[in-house]
Amino acid sequence: MTSKKLNFAVCLVSLIAALAGLLFGFDTGIVSGAILVIQKSFPLTAVQKECIVSAVLVGAMIASLISGRLADNYGRKDLMLVIAILFITGTLIAALAGSIKMIIVGRLLIGFAIGMGSYIAPLYIAEAAPYEWRGGLVSLNQLAITIGILCSYLINYAFVGTEYSWRWMFGMGVVPAVLLGVGMLFLPDSPRWLIKQNQLEKAKKILAYLRGTENIHHELSDIQQSLNIHYASFKEVFAPWVRRVLFLGIFLGFLQQVSGINTIIYYAPTIFEAAGFHDISNTILATVGIGVVNVLSTIWALIYLDRKGRRTLMFAGLIGMAASLFCLSFAFRFGLNWEGLRWVSVVSIFVFIICFAFSLGPLLWLMVSEIFPLRVRGTAMSIAVFSCWFWNAVVSGTFLSLLNALGPSNTFLLFGAMCVLGLIISYFILPETKGVSLEHIEENIRKGLPLKDIGA
Ligand code: BGC
Repeated sequence: MTSKKLNFAVCLVSLIAALAGLLFGFDTGIVSGAILVIQKSFPLTAVQKECIVSAVLVGAMIASLISGRLADNYGRKDLMLVIAILFITGTLIAALAGSIKMIIVGRLLIGFAIGMGSYIAPLYIAEAAPYEWRGGLVSLNQLAITIGILCSYLINYAFVGTEYSWRWMFGMGVVPAVLLGVGMLFLPDSPRWLIKQNQLEKAKKILAYLRGTENIHHELSDIQQSLNIHYASFKEVFAPWVRRVLFLGIFLGFLQQVSGINTIIYYAPTIFEAAGFHDISNTILATVGIGVVNVLSTIWALIYLDRKGRRTLMFAGLIGMAASLFCLSFAFRFGLNWEGLRWVSVVSIFVFIICFAFSLGPLLWLMVSEIFPLRVRGTAMSIAVFSCWFWNAVVSGTFLSLLNALGPSNTFLLFGAMCVLGLIISYFILPETKGVSLEHIEENIRKGLPLKDIGA
């Protein structure tokens, strides 16, 4: 992969920052179980249920958009601290809530934290990581998301059935949130951001600490050069030369969600039931299985992203996702009363998750942290991440209605078609950013190279 050794400081920075990813996965996954038991404490109307479930998505959407400039103005580290505080406060409010309103307020705050964390954590890691290891390190965040989802599935099943268990389900999130807050107190700010703020001496020290050597002059001057080229204003994020990469980021956020991942992550038991598996313990087991496979395949991606490259994994993943969705659609169309086809549907779902987890899952977060020029990175990235949260809300909010209106077969056909469309567009615009520095990518964007070649 690389001849350069990975040092402890960078690993620590990445691991602590990735706790934000763990909370992202945990808090998006936990609600499916919690909602079932909240009803025992407070009778819920359908609208109240929807509010509790969607509060996190709405919070994430708003926060990813409005906090865009904060990362550029106040720095990555301070925002990570704010995120930890929001996670802790939101979790405590939701877990100790005396009314449905308070649960919604708590979940909304958690949503704000998730929305901000979902772009600042990978951004912070990408700016601290040496380029040879950037793919794997940034994707630790995605690995943490999948571990968070798996923990939420396990905690849901461990606690389901007892009154007030929802308080524990929500409350467990406070542990990683406190770890994140305490950990961030000891971590340095991003050296790239410090240079942008003209705090050169501090940046030098941090870069030397992160690289484990005083020999950082080359990297330092590359970063400085990328800042000196010209002055940036807010409008610059929409300037023609940035607009192209902004489009790529928005497209990746869109594609990650319209390929249907969260219909499986949030609604797996519903799909297994529709496929004719009525035994609840099997459905539960299969859902936990999805969580496990998601984690394992992400670990594989972590190892191979910096070896095989982004394009190869993206294409392989999209082909596998499209094929498995078409098989799923086929199984639903041609009768699930035949045992064989029922199993085709289960295998398809697992293959789909495996393929997503080594491609679009980590690649969205990785590439949006790589492709934007430093001066506008925070703002541009937050717009791309907003696109992801927006389409997440659209897809998960309409999935059950789509199932009713089109039937499962056509619904999965539609998601499969989205993967094919994504494959075609990606073929023409997706750059290979493996093993190149962020500054080199920026230089190529400024030169006006076609999107596909900005990593060349
Ligand atoms: C996506 C989430 C999804 C998760 C599944 C993330 O990259 O953004 O929406 O639930 O992957 O592992």
